Amino acid sequence: MIVSVPKETRQDESRVALTPDVVKRLAGGGATVRIEQGAGDLAGFPDGAYSKVGAEIVPNVEAVLRDADVVVKVQPPTDNEILLLKRGAVLLAMLQPFTSPDLVSKLAQQGVTAFGMEALPRITRAQSMDILSSMATVAGYKAVLLGAGATGKMFPMLTTAAGTIVPARLLVLGAGVAGLQAIATARRLGAVVSAFDVRPEVKEQVESLGADFVEVEGVEASGEGGYAKELTEEQHNKELEAITKALKDIDVVITTAMIPGKPAPLLITAEMLKQMKPGAVVVDLAAETGGNCYGTEAGKEVVKDGVKILGLLNLPATMPTDASRMYARNMQTFLQQITKDGELDLDWEDEVVKGTCITHEGNVVHEVVKKAMNERSQT
Ligand code: NAI
Repeated sequence: MIVSVPKETRQDESRVALTPDVVKRLAGGGATVRIEQGAGDLAGFPDGAYSKVGAEIVPNVEAVLRDADVVVKVQPPTDNEILLLKRGAVLLAMLQPFTSPDLVSKLAQQGVTAFGMEALPRITRAQSMDILSSMATVAGYKAVLLGAGATGKMFPMLTTAAGTIVPARLLVLGAGVAGLQAIATARRLGAVVSAFDVRPEVKEQVESLGADFVEVEGVEASGEGGYAKELTEEQHNKELEAITKALKDIDVVITTAMIPGKPAPLLITAEMLKQMKPGAVVVDLAAETGGNCYGTEAGKEVVKDGVKILGLLNLPATMPTDASRMYARNMQTFLQQITKDGELDLDWEDEVVKGTCITHEGNVVHEVVKKAMNERSQT
């Protein structure tokens, strides 16, 4: 089995899909691993680290994809890469399958068995393959560092000869994977942290990290699979009222609220921004799906009413060493699921394989993706 890793070509991408420790295991299990020259450079994994553990370093994308049985990527493949894949090749990558009908059609046409890692069922058994959780962990951590860098305040309480500095106050809206990591990181830096989420079951986790949970009576919206449901208008208004109160004296807000398949809920309105402390910072992790804060611009830092709003995208790529390590470990576990004795062995009865596969043998096989594509073609 030939497992190939091309160099990522998207301009803002610095991660690599497999790291040397994972390559070592694959090569030890009998796979031939091919790495495109320089694929790991930006993540701190030079070619020599791969060749040392048994990988072949090849000079270009043609050489890395030729005859590959399994191709592992971070970003979706380019048109050129798709055309270089052999029929029946297996691709593991982030494909944004629900919103990329053209890409999905091209992969089907090429006869690729494509796994969209974002579609992985969020079940206990699949946790170790869950790239969304790994990357949200990195993003939650980085969001706090960005917030800390953008505020004029120090995070911890300091007692000095020049007086006492009070700790920064941080509010996290949405305490899922990214939010909980943001809380933990801000606490380690010494900030006083509070958090709110519409799923009351996260209260205990928030408190166990040393943060206060903002209680809002009547606003509960737990959905399936650990996700939230959309709030009613009345609940949303109650939530905004509570957030307005909670925002008083806050130095940094990290917003992470999301509902799968929906635009991000607006949690900080124009009016609320006006009431925030001058110099306050909002780091809006939901920028890609419209933002949780009024005025967020995807990929930019803007200032509104004296509040800095950071809507930066692809944060995991700004921490490429550990983000690649986590991504690669997820890929390794997924590969174990689809191989046996060093060869591909796809079990179509397996919920993980079935739920993640988008295209196979020339067809789009993922029911939700198929439905979304049919609906689009009718409009
Ligand atoms: P998650 O699903 O684990 O957490 C989202 C949380 O938002 C859930 O706990 C949910 O209950 C909560 N929520 C939903 N509606 C709410 C509301 N109205 N008020 C308060 N809380 C609400 O998602 P995860 O993995 O933590 O990702 C969070 C966000 O970060 C997503 O939008 C994701 O796309 C984004 N993200 C951004 C990155 C970047 O580089 N900018 C990188 C990774 C993730």
